[in-house]
Parts: sequence; structure tokens; C-alpha cells
Amino acid sequence: MSPLQRLSKILSETGAASRRQAESLIREGRVTVNGRVAQIGDKADPVQHHIKVDGRRVVPSSGKYYLLLNKPKGTVTTAEDPQGRTTVLDLIKAPPTRLFPVGRLDYDAEGFLLLTNDGELAHRLTHPSFRTPRTYQVKIKGQPGPAEIGSLSRGIFLEDGRTAPCRIKVLRGTEDNLWLEMVLYEGRNRQVKRMWQKLGYPVLKLKRVAFAGLSMGRLRPGEYRNLRPGEVQKLKELVAKKLPGEPPGERSGTRNPGNRKEVGS
Ligand code: URA
Repeated sequence: MSPLQRLSKILSETGAASRRQAESLIREGRVTVNGRVAQIGDKADPVQHHIKVDGRRVVPSSGKYYLLLNKPKGTVTTAEDPQGRTTVLDLIKAPPTRLFPVGRLDYDAEGFLLLTNDGELAHRLTHPSFRTPRTYQVKIKGQPGPAEIGSLSRGIFLEDGRTAPCRIKVLRGTEDNLWLEMVLYEGRNRQVKRMWQKLGYPVLKLKRVAFAGLSMGRLRPGEYRNLRPGEVQKLKELVAKKLPGEPPGERSGTRNPGNRKEVGS
């Protein structure tokens, strides 16, 4: 659950009313939150709660939303699935607007997944030139030695080219398998699995625990929350430099402090 905000602030930020008008609307009993008539001073979550004025849902259309979902296993990272499987978007109750996932996690993988309607930020975070770090905890079958781990971390050839150097740390193991932490700076399709498979070690479990310097924290699989304004700012700063080919002076606006107001948390 994201931090709650004053209802009058939500209404004014969505453009439904000015701050003062919002107070009047609430006083007149014209605002409801999840069907209950709101009182002055009430707080709500614009993402999770149904806020209505005169029976009409308030949908913040111009705002940017940044949700962190702990993707559970058995969900697909797409907006729709032809096979009818549960998508990550099915898990978001009453989304404030159309959201989309930033990058992908496999059906059987779990962990950190950012959902947003900020196309510019999503594009930059997944653009290879920013080398956005993705941290995975990986359980593999078998016991690779230091030489194999070393070669993987320096980069190996896959069918789509050589992998970028990554960081690998052994966490714990048994006779049959090993848990490792890997930090990758690129996001190719099924990359972790393909890297280990290349050396003959199948991946048994895969969990993304951090992305772009933000970590999952205590969210359980299936739970989600809004990013805090400071977290959004951190993401924007990470990808603030110009992209190759971007004209001078024309930047994504990711550093525009005005954007902070738009954050739905
Ligand atoms: N690497 C994989 O193999 N799968 C994922 O879901 C993410 C990274």
C-alpha cells in the first residue's frame, strides 16, 4: 500500500477541482472513497482507492505512476496473454491509468518489476547505454567452480552475442545446488538462464531482488506499492544523461523537478 495522501490534494492534482473547491466538495458530501462519503481531512491512495466526485470516478490522467510489484511466479509480464494466463497487470486492482511493465521477467521468475505509464523513463531504464543494474538471486543445479563463475562474469558468447561483464557472488549451497547473486547491466531475453545453460547448469529458481539501485524490500509476491518520490527521483537521475543521437538541449525532462509533483505517492 502506498502512503496515503489528503483527499483534497488528490482531487486538486488530478484536476478534478482546485484545492479550495475540493474542500467544499468534501464538505458537501459529494466525494466518496470506496463508496463511503468522505470527511474533511480524510486520506486516500489514488492508486488503490476508488475516489468519486458526484458518482464519477476521478482518474488522474496526466499524472505519472510508478508501481513496484513483487511479481509472483506463474504470471506473464505482458498486458495480455493469448493463453489466458494471469498477467502482471491483472494483479493491480483499479489501476489509475494504463500501466506497462519496464522490462520482463519470465513466467517462472519472481521479483522486482516496475510498472509505469512514464514511457520516457521506461525507455531509458531499458536502453542498453545506461547499463541499468539488475540484481538476481539464482539457484542453479550443480556446483560450478571459481573458473566457470569467473568466465561467466567476464562475459560469454550466446547466440545473440557476447554478454557484458557482470558481478557474481556465491551466497550458499548444498551438494546438489548453489544460490548465487548476479548483477547484470543488460537485460536480454532469458539471459541468466541462457548464461548458466551454456555452461551446463540449469537454473532452478530466479528472483530479481533489485533494479536500478532500488531494492524490493519487504513486499511479498503479488504485493505492490507506489514508489516514493525520492525513489522516482533516483531513477530519473540514473538515466539523466543524453542518449546517443539526442539533440542538444532536448532531454527527456526526467530532471524536471516539476515532475515530482506528478508522482502518485
Ligand atoms: N534472466 C532470465 O533468464 N530470466 C528472467 O526472467 C530475467 C533474467
